[in-house]
Amino acid sequence: MSTPQPRVTVRVPAKVNVQLAVGPARPDGFHDLANVFLAVGLHDEVTATPAEELRITCEGPGADQVPLDRGNLAAKAATALAALHGRSDAVHLHIAKNIPVAGGMAGGSADGAAALLACDRLWGTATPRAQLLEICAELGSDVPFSLVGGAALGTGRGERLEPLPVGGTFHWVFALADGGLSTPAVFREFDRLAGPGVPAPTASRALLEALRAGDAKALAAAASNDLQPAALSLFPALADTFAAGTAAGALAALVSGSGPTTAFLAADEPAARAVAAALTASGTCRTVHRTTSPAPGATVTASTLGR
Ligand code: C5P
Repeated sequence: MSTPQPRVTVRVPAKVNVQLAVGPARPDGFHDLANVFLAVGLHDEVTATPAEELRITCEGPGADQVPLDRGNLAAKAATALAALHGRSDAVHLHIAKNIPVAGGMAGGSADGAAALLACDRLWGTATPRAQLLEICAELGSDVPFSLVGGAALGTGRGERLEPLPVGGTFHWVFALADGGLSTPAVFREFDRLAGPGVPAPTASRALLEALRAGDAKALAAAASNDLQPAALSLFPALADTFAAGTAAGALAALVSGSGPTTAFLAADEPAARAVAAALTASGTCRTVHRTTSPAPGATVTASTLGR
């Protein structure tokens, strides 16, 4: 009997920031953040199989905009893990994409975290969790959260995580924009709009309490994103999407991360359905996704290992 080809698939969630408090630019070019991450049920899947050399392929919406070279965070993750264990980084990583590309939902970061976990399982390297998180932090500010999922407060440049309790399910509608925004460009616009004297970022106590209580109304009242004026300045059409979602009864409308995806928090599932239908009918966005949070972090969903 022939042995099946070794193969590991990892499912990884997108994120929304229910608070994104941004401090002044640091000497290293990053910004200190108080970043409340919430993982949402919109996923990419990364499948790792043995190969002669490192190779990335990608399918799904926006796949044509995903770099397939060593600049892809999934490739960087494989290379970093291979270097840690003194082995070759030869692997085929196939990305099944559903998280919007360049949408402010950490799609690239998600693929990095998923690739790391998939390679670790495929190669049998059994890397301790703390070391995987260190590699994630080197790959990008949002990558550690993609591994961990759930809800967390990110400080530093967003990579230092403290898990947060969540007392219920939140209902979200995401409106995908036509086009993307570059995260560095949005941070630069933040610096320009904010000028000097930006205070140190702090997490909102009311927001953390709303998460703990599972209280959507309180979460909506406390949610904020300091990058929102910058994203709206670079992408003014987002104001029309906000207006459509708010008119349909959304409790809160937020730019997701650095945008241009917009996130609408709804009171419950019927309310979310109404917001999604209104956004679809409004013609102010490309696609609409309805989902819930929190969602688990990167998880192995299928694994066939050779002998
Ligand atoms: O860490 P990551 O590679 O995702 O960051 C992408 C870019 O976003 C950085 O090069 C920087 O311009 C900006 N950024 C920032 N402050 C952060 C996180 C990201 O200025 N805390």
